[in-house]
Amino acid sequence: MADWDNFSTRFDNIFLADPLYLDILEKIVAELDADDKDILDIGCGTGNLIARILEELPGARVAAVDPSQGMRDICSERFEGSDRVSIAAGHALAIPFPDAAFDDVVTSLALHHVHYDLREDCVREIARVLKPGGRFICADTFCGVPGRKEDTARCRDIIEKVVAKALLSLEHGAYEMMLITLAALVPTVAEDGEYWATVPEWLESLSLAGFQEFKVIDLPPLEIAKIICAAKVQEDLRFP
Ligand SMILES: C[S@@+](CC[C@H](N)C(=O)[O-])C[C@H]1O[C@@H](n2cnc3c(N)ncnc32)[C@H](O)[C@@H]1O
Repeated sequence: MADWDNFSTRFDNIFLADPLYLDILEKIVAELDADDKDILDIGCGTGNLIARILEELPGARVAAVDPSQGMRDICSERFEGSDRVSIAAGHALAIPFPDAAFDDVVTSLALHHVHYDLREDCVREIARVLKPGGRFICADTFCGVPGRKEDTARCRDIIEKVVAKALLSLEHGAYEMMLITLAALVPTVAEDGEYWATVPEWLESLSLAGFQEFKVIDLPPLEIAKIICAAKVQEDLRFP
């Protein structure tokens, strides 16, 4: 699923029929603090997470980046005229906002597109735009087994997770979601634009980039997606 521009017009019809996706949006929003004012959404897509944040946090402003022009066009049209939303071209490794600009960085189903080798650069870029003590809340798909392409245990883990997810979509009548879930299977095992790391690998990178207070939220009944929460360390007040 690399062609987000072409997929953008079909995205909401498919994803909004998926119970796991809706659960992800609700659980991200539940992690936000009512006092948070400035929130960044990385890989905002059509803006479904932004819409939920605006509803739940009436005092919040949301900035968003996405590399796909098609996604940004839909999102910009959706929030046109709102002084609470700004959408910019960008991606997880190049966020066009100043240092320490945000109380929270949220992201949903986007960071598995960042290559393993760039994961540490990605979390450092996220740390850069967060205020000290600010939170990073990341929902995504994760592999249960470290390793790389052609590792049997890793491939089996991905196949089992993807098939379980596809079957759940089918049982919920989300036929199109089942199809695109299965379509992502080969690119994921082949590491072709889909880079599923493990949760411990992400936590290690976050730790190296100055994050702490980790929390991992499961999304039953499946193991395929989880939400990682972390806080950027506070500035050391002994050395202002
Ligand atoms: C599955 S969609 C999720 C959209 C949205 N976050 C949501 O939950 O509805 C994945 C999004 O990630 C974006 N994306 C792809 N590569 C990215 C990257 N390197 N950094 C940020 N976003 C990326 C795509 O353009 C697409 O909009």
